[in-house]
Amino acid sequence: MTALSGKRILLVIGGGIAAYKSLDLIRRLRERGASVRCVLTNGAQQFITPLAASALTGQRSHTELFDREDEADIGHIRLARDADLVVVAPATANLMAKMAGGHADDLASTVLLATTLPILIAPAMNVRMWLHPATQRNLKALEDDGVHVVGPNDGAMAEVEFGPGRMAEPLEIVASAERLLAPSGPLAGKHVIVTSGPTHEPIDPVRYIANRSSGKQGHAIAKAAAEAGARVTLISGPVTLPDPSGVTTVHVESAREMLQAVEMALPADIGIFAAAVADWRVANAGEQKIKKKDGALPNLSLTENPDILATISHLTENRPPLMVGFAAETEHVIEHAKQKLAKKGCDLIVANDVSAAAGVMGGDSNKVHLVTASDVETWPTLAKTDVATRLVERLGAMVGDAKP
Ligand code: C5P
Repeated sequence: MTALSGKRILLVIGGGIAAYKSLDLIRRLRERGASVRCVLTNGAQQFITPLAASALTGQRSHTELFDREDEADIGHIRLARDADLVVVAPATANLMAKMAGGHADDLASTVLLATTLPILIAPAMNVRMWLHPATQRNLKALEDDGVHVVGPNDGAMAEVEFGPGRMAEPLEIVASAERLLAPSGPLAGKHVIVTSGPTHEPIDPVRYIANRSSGKQGHAIAKAAAEAGARVTLISGPVTLPDPSGVTTVHVESAREMLQAVEMALPADIGIFAAAVADWRVANAGEQKIKKKDGALPNLSLTENPDILATISHLTENRPPLMVGFAAETEHVIEHAKQKLAKKGCDLIVANDVSAAAGVMGGDSNKVHLVTASDVETWPTLAKTDVATRLVERLGAMVGDAKP
């Protein structure tokens, strides 16, 4: 487990001879559990090919600003957003100048201008170019903009000159990336498992039984826990939401798959089970689409699904020390939540009123009560994202208190 596990790195490769070292950098980043996506400038492609980068990243490399396939597929704005860190290696004098000046005339510079992610640059150029006042001015401007810099190192250069300008070694760049991504916050060093969304229980290959759930609350909790420094595994049923950044998301369909994914993700310090799991599945699900026959109804026989929260809360080995369940109720909210706390064996129930009048289902706000064995606390109506942040803060205090 390193600070890079599960992190997404966008690696922008500039046009310098050090580009060959970026191929090694990809390997080093991936060895530490990061996924890497590459953007190559035109200059970079004089030294290495997009194919070599793709072979090492396992993902398509990107080169063109106006690429019809790309714009329909991920596009430069998504490239600029769907990562945890942008690394520019090698950062050539030209690329640094473009970044400092805010130019956007190719894919690399456009992505760098469009991103709000942290940026780490590894400059590499001829010693005279590095020492030139223009480059030093650009360096200062970039540092003032919050760009992080690693290297360059002193040493022999390709042009048989000596001095600063050699790109930092891949392992030095990795170490800087790790420092930038090292978790901090109330949940630093904790592993949190979150379940979210509905489950789909097949009737046949095209039909299913499901509960209503957008996954908004569970996904917001996963994101808030990651922002609080936790390593988060989000186990999500089918939802239309994007995977939250900085979170390892496992996609499942059915309750049984969700339970298996939770078991695989253990051990954890906190389990937050916000998924709306279907209580039943069809025991005699059809392998082929069930045909409509005149007047005859299919004979579906239902069987109970495993209760994931109760199963994990009752584990004798590997039980996360803090288990949190949700209770969506339409009446007697607190009373039912107390019963659920005891029945499921969890430590905290976040109870909410999902009666039509409350308008919580699929909406962006939530009104919750925190129910423990000894206490009930009612929060005002809050945005689901605020419920998530406050809940994570509270859980941070609870695991903090539980420490010896
Ligand atoms: O019993 P009920 O579905 O109301 O309980 C809600 C809580 O239990 C939620 O935290 C939900 O994620 C969890 N649950 C579960 N597995 C089930 C049913 C509910 O984990 N099969």
